[in-house]
Amino acid sequence: MAVKVDTVIIDPEQTSRELIVNYLSNIEDINITHQFNDILSAQDYIFESRPPLIIVDITKKTNISLDIISKISTSIKNCKIIVLSYDMDSNIVIKALRAGAREFLIKPLIEKDFTEAVNKLKDLIQGNINDTARCKVITTFSNKGGIGKTSIAVNLAMEIANITKEKVALVDLNMQMGDITTFLNLDPSFDTSYVINNLDRIDETFLLTTLEQYNKTSLYVLADPPDIEQAEIITSEDIATLINILRNVFSYIVIDTTSSFDSKTITALDNSDIILLVSTINLPSIRNCQRCFDLFKKLGYPKDKIKLVINRYMEKDDIKIEDVEEVLDHKVFFKIPNNYYVIIGAINKGIPVCDQEPNSNLCKSFRQLAELLSDNYSHNNKNAIQPNKRETGLGFLDIFKKKGD
Ligand SMILES: Nc1ncnc2c1ncn2[C@@H]1O[C@H](COP(=O)(O)OP(=O)(O)OP(=O)(O)O)[C@@H](O)[C@H]1O
Ligand SMILES: [Mg+2]
Repeated sequence: MAVKVDTVIIDPEQTSRELIVNYLSNIEDINITHQFNDILSAQDYIFESRPPLIIVDITKKTNISLDIISKISTSIKNCKIIVLSYDMDSNIVIKALRAGAREFLIKPLIEKDFTEAVNKLKDLIQGNINDTARCKVITTFSNKGGIGKTSIAVNLAMEIANITKEKVALVDLNMQMGDITTFLNLDPSFDTSYVINNLDRIDETFLLTTLEQYNKTSLYVLADPPDIEQAEIITSEDIATLINILRNVFSYIVIDTTSSFDSKTITALDNSDIILLVSTINLPSIRNCQRCFDLFKKLGYPKDKIKLVINRYMEKDDIKIEDVEEVLDHKVFFKIPNNYYVIIGAINKGIPVCDQEPNSNLCKSFRQLAELLSDNYSHNNKNAIQPNKRETGLGFLDIFKKKGD
């Protein structure tokens, strides 16, 4: 027998509460634990009882309600919130979704829509379907250009989609300078600015038809806007909203960024679960990484949110992995081999590396990285860094320390 879903109703109108109770009585496994006529008086009860489902009207006291909803959704991770309102202003819808609401329903309620929304969240709560809140947002970043951010984002997203068969969104945040469409030879009809301009009509169908599906796989691409004016009106708040909305539909979001710490990039980093900080093994790159780590620290990111990825790795590199780790005070999470021939072949054909050379060390590496970052696999890091034997004498560390003085 399925576990009953404890549900709290918050609505100032008695008739509306009665209607909700009536609609809920036709849905199996719903257990109404409490009804309130205002969210302020419901707060204490909610934080104490941590109900999995809350249905709350925010027509009056909208801002206070949204603040409380935001607190609830951050502190009670598994709580699903349905927001109701007579006000269908798209700004309010966006604010509610940003605050953590899973569904937004316009009043007066239509029973069919209400039941559908409750059933969807009930299935999530009871574990009958995948919880989209488990969506993992992975962003490739480096404050240095040409280091491999796009190569990694594209091939990682492709391999996660191949391995998990779950929906993966690949988002290009290089406003007007994006390369993802070139890397995958796509000519999408829509881009980020179109999605952002249509936030009020977004649902799963809209997103799955607007993002460009790659070659009948579960990879969906959201390109950067090619037009400067369109790119400039996109704000960092829009980026946060976009990520939140994509989270509801996709199991993974892979974001490719520019090499600068602009506000949109920082918003993407803030909203990521994992940052793949990409570096190559040379002094300028490592120095840049150090600056990134300093900034990430100031931004309050936990250390394990940042995964250091060494791209274009060569066994015979002068600088050893453990020296890099010592200088940066951070473990290297993964190393991707240098293989210019294979990657440039793939880029020039506009296909993923694994379609170009499935047996190459590079394809295997992207596949392993995808396995490590996807949730379906037991994470046995076969590509775990095997430290090279330390050599004596004046090495990278000494030079680095000297330069750093
Ligand atoms: N593992 C690799 N081995 C060899 N060459 C690589 C590897 N990864 C990337 N490259 C090469 O480096 C170049 C730059 O890669 P990419 O465009 O992914 O970098 P980026 O950081 O996204 O650059 P930008 O800052 O311009 O967006 C590409 O031409 C690619 O061929
Ligand atoms: Mg790039």
